[in-house]
Amino acid sequence: MPRNELSGISIKVTPPGKKSKKVIEMSNKYMATTTQTLPVVGYRGQRVYIEDLDGNVYLDYTSGISVTNVGYGNPDLIRKVEDQLHRLWHFAGTDFYAEVYVEAAKLLTDVTPGRFRKRVFYSNSGTESIEAAIKIAKAYTGRNQFIGFIGAFHGRTHGSLAFTASKAQQRKGFFPFMPGVEHVPYPDPYRNPFGIDGYDEPEELVNRVIDYIDSYLFKTYLAPSDVAGILVEPVLGEGGYVVPPKGFLKELKRLGDSHGIPLLVDEVQTGFGRTGKFFASEHFGVAPEVIALAKSIASGIPMGAVVMKEEMDFREKGMHSNTYGGNPIASAACVATIETIRKQNLVKNSEEMGKYMKKRLVELQDKHKEIGDVRGLGLMLAVDFVKNAKTKEADQKLRDRVLENAFKNGLLMLSTGQGAIRIIPPLIINKKQIDEGIETLEKSIRQSL
Ligand SMILES: Cc1ncc(COP(=O)(O)O)c(C=O)c1O
Repeated sequence: MPRNELSGISIKVTPPGKKSKKVIEMSNKYMATTTQTLPVVGYRGQRVYIEDLDGNVYLDYTSGISVTNVGYGNPDLIRKVEDQLHRLWHFAGTDFYAEVYVEAAKLLTDVTPGRFRKRVFYSNSGTESIEAAIKIAKAYTGRNQFIGFIGAFHGRTHGSLAFTASKAQQRKGFFPFMPGVEHVPYPDPYRNPFGIDGYDEPEELVNRVIDYIDSYLFKTYLAPSDVAGILVEPVLGEGGYVVPPKGFLKELKRLGDSHGIPLLVDEVQTGFGRTGKFFASEHFGVAPEVIALAKSIASGIPMGAVVMKEEMDFREKGMHSNTYGGNPIASAACVATIETIRKQNLVKNSEEMGKYMKKRLVELQDKHKEIGDVRGLGLMLAVDFVKNAKTKEADQKLRDRVLENAFKNGLLMLSTGQGAIRIIPPLIINKKQIDEGIETLEKSIRQSL
């Protein structure tokens, strides 16, 4: 197979083509039902492009769900992983030691917010990082209840699922989850139960949410002295790429501090430059006690981590552990990912290209009344389709048609929330590739109306 460069969208056969269809048929026969979205069969990836099995080339605005932040096929990453692969690919890092585990842990404590001493626990995925964060908070505080947010997504295992509240079918039929999680409204400036326009009155919106917890929840059915942690996404991921008002996380932290409740921030989707800062918490000026990580941490080699304040570390051996945690290859990929983000200035590129992408999306919104909201930070952006600009009722059908047409036109995107499309390209994207995507998106919207 010739290794020619992928340099632009190129749809040669209507997707899915013959070879792709065969794989999808087999997949439907042998693989479990998950969240299957579009019939694209990945064959290879280069920078921001994905080629399918039939030779179609797509512009990728999904980054494998915010994982391939440094792009596909980064040569430094391949070199580092290959080198580790040949030397040692597994060595129970929880029971024994290896240099690469420590190297990654030291880097993670350097890049995460907070100039205090930290410790790192390695997991294999986002949901496992959340499970670990739950145990860390319980063990540290000696308390056993939590506060979570409506609209949040933290994973699908029974502890994290107890917090997940972005779509009813994620929980449907799986009760009971871990007990002890109370949900409160997230300060969504666009749609919230308080009837406040949070873009016009951000402080009022934050006050309402904080007041809901402090004056209502804490006074009526949840004693703050029982609360082990407040778990929050700095920007809602699966829940619609909702950016809360600037003061929200600081106020939440202040409230937690006043009751000895640690702030547990889920940066699984927002981390590693995605929002135009290394971590989204930095936009809000907070240094959480616990940060949960996964997805882009190792650019697609399965890995998760919890970075916590040193004093929150487990007191005794055996309280928590696992088999694969970290793993030499994942740790090597983590080191290479952080080095690449630094070397290629990808946080800055995410900020700058994010601004450009948002400007282009707002231009689209000006032309199409069906787009009710354009929001996001850095290269974590959403376009929200509505049936009516006044009622803001989500138009899921239109959104799905746009996704389908975009795919056929060579642009890969994913949904988020009830009626939004998320735009999360690799952080190496340039203006030309943004223009290419926006033109394709506009054409796809026109075809879908
Ligand atoms: C914010 C957030 N937390 C946790 C998770 C769960 O991660 P994983 O799918 O790796 O278990 C996700 C996955 O989408 C996420 O977006």
